[in-house]
Amino acid sequence: MTAPGRFVTFEGIDGSGKSTQARLLADALRRRGQEVVETREPGGSPGAEEIRRLLLEGDPGRWSAETEILLFTAARRDHLERTILPALEAGKVVICDRFADSTRVYQGITRGALREVVDRLHEMMIGREPDITLLIDMDPQMGLRRALARKTGEDRFEAFGLDMQRRMRAGFLALAREFPDRIRVVDGNRAAETIAAEVFEIVTGTPA
Ligand code: ADP
Ligand code: TYD
Repeated sequence: MTAPGRFVTFEGIDGSGKSTQARLLADALRRRGQEVVETREPGGSPGAEEIRRLLLEGDPGRWSAETEILLFTAARRDHLERTILPALEAGKVVICDRFADSTRVYQGITRGALREVVDRLHEMMIGREPDITLLIDMDPQMGLRRALARKTGEDRFEAFGLDMQRRMRAGFLALAREFPDRIRVVDGNRAAETIAAEVFEIVTGTPA
């Protein structure tokens, strides 16, 4: 897996501003002449988008934690094969809204102590980490308010509520301590443009 492109991911709780920051980073890199592929999980390829609907719509108790891990991993494998790796091999920058760290936190910690299962499946079926991950850290109450205000119908996870948002935030911060070389924590409780300037500098090593 020595693709020449750069693989950048955004992580954080629901409503933390990941999609906004992914878009602003993509725009900024394109303005500087880079070829960028913007994508997201779950989804990012036709098959994975179908799996997304199974995961995000309907009754919060629809799947067991174990089944959920399998579905997220199946979607990720398809996304990797059909979207991410071809773009990296073509030398592009891939910016992905959520990736395996979300499974480590959401399924590995908060839906039961299943981190080992998540890690073993990742090693077997994915085997690729981002080059850099921006963790947008955010007050859980504010994140939930923003996420629920969107009313997209994809609210199966948001329906778990504030206590779960708190545990997920703690889970992401613990992950940042576990992977200090890859994951950079960015304060999301600021204006979008201020956050975007910091993200750009982290990713490119030059001021925006
Ligand atoms: P996520 O992808 O993490 O769920 P979004 O980027 O979709 O988050 O942002 C959630 C909502 O909050 C959107 O309505 C967005 O316009 C708004 N938002 C994003 N970043 C900021 C910010 N820095 N300050 C205020 N509102 C924001
Ligand atoms: P997303 O569309 O990124 O939601 P948001 O914009 O609200 O952050 O992700 C949808 C939900 O899927 C989100 O609540 C987190 C959850 N999720 C997991 O539980 N595990 C995963 O591996 C991924 C990628 C997402």
